[in-house]
Amino acid sequence: MDVGIIGAGRLGTALAVVFTRAGHKVMVSGTRGPRALAPLVDELGTNASAGTPQEAADFGDVVVLAVPWDQKENAAASVPFWQGRTVLVPVNPLRDTAAGLEVVDTGGIPPTEIVAGLLPGALVVKGFNTYLAQALPKEPDIDNGRRIVLLAGDDSDAKRRVADLADSAGFQAVDTGTLAEGAPLFDTGGPLSGLGRDLLAL
Ligand SMILES: NC(=O)c1ccc[n+]([C@@H]2O[C@H](COP(=O)([O-])OP(=O)(O)OC[C@H]3O[C@@H](n4cnc5c(N)ncnc54)[C@H](OP(=O)(O)O)[C@@H]3O)[C@@H](O)[C@H]2O)c1
Repeated sequence: MDVGIIGAGRLGTALAVVFTRAGHKVMVSGTRGPRALAPLVDELGTNASAGTPQEAADFGDVVVLAVPWDQKENAAASVPFWQGRTVLVPVNPLRDTAAGLEVVDTGGIPPTEIVAGLLPGALVVKGFNTYLAQALPKEPDIDNGRRIVLLAGDDSDAKRRVADLADSAGFQAVDTGTLAEGAPLFDTGGPLSGLGRDLLAL
């Protein structure tokens, strides 16, 4: 599968490692342009390339939007259209401050609904937001089981595509339902949002 990644920071890079390792082709992108990502592409190997956000969106069968909450509008605007694209959204409503991570007040609107609203016509799948970036590239198989990736989305084909991607990389995708039903379960503050934390201790 081809995966376009918009935002090659901590999480985008971790996902690029996970997906290239599984044999998928990945194009990473960010605000600093493809040249700035050349060292990362070298590290990721022959399955990786760098482009602009628009090129990454055009490249991907799945497009990952891995940008900070406060950059979601700018990143969404850097791609001319979203219609029909399968977009994996690991964005959490968190902000880095001098005092540490702060939860953004979304005024009672589910965070994934806010992000999806910036991507008209996109087939949005929420997922890969519960693991800390440094935990993701660790071995997905644990004690004869597989680490779980929770997914939510309204389009079953898009959700299947992302589930196949997760499964192929050694995870076990679990469908929690639609964006409205499932995403609040594992969005920041939801009852399943702490799922990946303990894995850091392994
Ligand atoms: N880090 C984690 O452990 C973790 C875990 C779960 C979920 N998440 C979620 O994943 C998202 C990314 O977090 P992160 O920790 O990876 O952030 P990060 O390390 O700060 O990296 C953010 C990346 O986004 C890129 N970016 C910023 N604005 C952009 C724009 N307008 N267009 C395109 N690219 C843009 C930056 O590229 P340039 O440097 O080129 O500007 C940078 O590579 C957040 O929503 C976060 O809540 C993170």
